[in-house]
Amino acid sequence: MIAQLLPTYSRAPLSFVKGEGSWLIEADGRRFLDLGAGIAVNALGHANPALVEALTDQAQRLWHTSNLYQVPQQQALAEKLVDATFADTVFFTNSGTEACELAVKMARKYFYDKGQSERVEIITFSGSFHGRSSAGIAAAGSEKMTKGFGPLLPGFVHLHWGDHDALAPAITGKTAALLIEPVQGEGGIVPLPDQCLKGLRDLCDEKGILLILDEVQCGVGRTGRLFAHEWAGVDPDIMMVAKGIGGGFPLGAVLATEKAASGMTAGTHGSTYGGNPLGCAVGNKVMDIVSDPAFLAEVNRKAGLFRQRLEALVAEHPDVFDHVRGTGLMLGLKCKAANLDVVDAGYANAVITVPAADNVIRILPPLTITDDEIAEAVIRLGAAAASLKTPSASSG
Ligand SMILES: Cc1ncc(COP(=O)(O)O)c(C=O)c1O
Repeated sequence: MIAQLLPTYSRAPLSFVKGEGSWLIEADGRRFLDLGAGIAVNALGHANPALVEALTDQAQRLWHTSNLYQVPQQQALAEKLVDATFADTVFFTNSGTEACELAVKMARKYFYDKGQSERVEIITFSGSFHGRSSAGIAAAGSEKMTKGFGPLLPGFVHLHWGDHDALAPAITGKTAALLIEPVQGEGGIVPLPDQCLKGLRDLCDEKGILLILDEVQCGVGRTGRLFAHEWAGVDPDIMMVAKGIGGGFPLGAVLATEKAASGMTAGTHGSTYGGNPLGCAVGNKVMDIVSDPAFLAEVNRKAGLFRQRLEALVAEHPDVFDHVRGTGLMLGLKCKAANLDVVDAGYANAVITVPAADNVIRILPPLTITDDEIAEAVIRLGAAAASLKTPSASSG
């Protein structure tokens, strides 16, 4: 008999009932150090008092009206995002997947309105993840996500990540945009080198196509800048945001330049809940905190510390771990042992990590993690690694 919950997840046998900063408390009372943050969502930790206050204040006044009316919390958050980024305009969604939908529509509509309706193709890259909608899975294109769900939304051209030579010839008179994550998350924490992002920007300019960045996982302070592309010193035309921006409340956004968004006139797109007052009340508070240069400097300092400790951990357990990769507090441990076993061993030692492709475990803690918690995290990961060693390996 099918489970009452559609069984699309293989869930761990853990049931959390409370969160406090970097900690999750299980129904049986055990305290887990959370290095997953709901897959890069709880950027400011669990039950952050400033976010709880913003949400409960709003909840006592007004939950929902409609995008038929002005939503002041949306306007305020859009202004903050526009002031802090390349963008001239913002549309709010409830998730990263919905941000992907709009990014694709926006790019196509831009060219349609320019009289180039043949420009519909979006170039994407292997290992990417852009959500689970029909556009999202067609964009990523992996067999794992698309098998059985055809016919797939047409108009996506898939290139191999890192295949520089394939790029220029793939851009044709049908190309509208190039869509890429500055740091692949689900793909196994794979940062795009700054010079490659610069090269992609130049190529898009040269060919007259749009650059769409998916910063759903790597954005909102995660890499130590407000958005990851800032490290490369280049701007996209369209950017997808979600996860961290809501700090745990479902909120996403598409940020765009005036030019790229020019086709999105009244009636061309919408969302019942997108930019709901509750989500935007939290989003405003998240932005106030994360966009503070002092906060981002702390993220960078802690990222350096964490990385150093993880390098030492890898050196101590060379049979379990291969290397550390990533940027800021978006770190990955490439494993030699099966990554799912490492995640399970973490659970047994009350530390939470998230598996990713390429046999990696992801370390995406709340950006508010403390130095002591970083030290404790590495102790627990060490205990998890030690528990995985075979008796002969540990004795020899
Ligand atoms: C890079 C990236 N894009 C898009 C998505 C989809 O976001 P959501 O799950 O909020 O729909 C994710 C989710 O993991 C993601 O990591």
